[in-house]
Amino acid sequence: SATSLQGYESFMIKEIRESWGAVKDTISGLMEDSANLGKAVKALDKARRILIVAAGTSYHAGLIFATRLLRAGKTVIPIIASEHDTVKSGQDDVVLVISQSGETMDSLLALKDYKAQGSFIISLTNTLGNSISSYSNVSLHTRAGPEIGVAATKTFTSQVGALLLMSSLLLGENLDYLKEAENVVSSSFSKSIGYAEKIGIEISRKQSVYYLSKGIGVPMAMEGALKIKEIAYIHSEAYPAGESKHGPIALVERDFPVIFINTGEHVEELRNNLKEMESRKARAYVISAGVEIKSDTEVKEILVNVSDQRLAPLALAPPLQLIAYYAAKERGTNPDRPRNLAKTVTVR
Ligand code: G6P
Repeated sequence: SATSLQGYESFMIKEIRESWGAVKDTISGLMEDSANLGKAVKALDKARRILIVAAGTSYHAGLIFATRLLRAGKTVIPIIASEHDTVKSGQDDVVLVISQSGETMDSLLALKDYKAQGSFIISLTNTLGNSISSYSNVSLHTRAGPEIGVAATKTFTSQVGALLLMSSLLLGENLDYLKEAENVVSSSFSKSIGYAEKIGIEISRKQSVYYLSKGIGVPMAMEGALKIKEIAYIHSEAYPAGESKHGPIALVERDFPVIFINTGEHVEELRNNLKEMESRKARAYVISAGVEIKSDTEVKEILVNVSDQRLAPLALAPPLQLIAYYAAKERGTNPDRPRNLAKTVTVR
């Protein structure tokens, strides 16, 4: 069952392995729930502004959604739930609350405030009958099944799948590319696991690591950095690669680990950033989806395949999660129960 280890050494690795099925079930489940999905998309389409509210990993999924819509000219404001006081909402705004558990207090309080300000509330949660969905005008669900590991894995990948579907509907895109979602996640897992283990083992001995990317890869870099912090206790930062020259590069010296996350956009710029890092003798790693950076240096690059570039965030989820998993394993920490963290934070 979903709540027993079934021979796996941790829930985290079991749940990463469940992620492609979870994405598939999420996308098909949402399509079957067409009345609610239609209501949500219609409301989002008519919204003056779309406010996205979430915490932690769910916030990173929200940023991917935001990036897709912002690029298409929509007005979207991603808001960290505990900071929602910085943005006032109104009656013409639609708020999308994303929460795996549906019980995160910061997200629930933001929802209540925005509802009181007259906004229409859509939620995307992974459980049924949770508080956040009960306060929503439309409640949508990912179908990842129970997640026991404290660090979100399959639920994140499922959120990304759900939000790709929702953004494609909003943008009037053909949905055929999503048929490959499951396959892209599972083949990325198989293709990247060896390299992810190597990266995880190498960085397990480091004090600090950077994750650099561009565009829609930036939230993926943020999620990679969060995962390694959460379960391997390694200091990490995520930056847009171009921004790394405005400060972060000061820390880069011989063997400083820098993981490049390449979604196939702006590859030339990424290649230049990679060169800058390597000229400072950084220990660089490259994970690419669909399109290679093809550096002329010795750096090892792994290419995971995508049938469509829009699937790149889905393809990049397994290697980022696996890096954190193997780093934790190498350090001998329990990836399922990281210190100081709770699966669901029901206090403010
Ligand atoms: C906690 C968990 C994180 C999670 C965040 C938001 O901090 O440790 O893994 O991303 O809550 O949780 P939610 O259930 O709202 O997605």
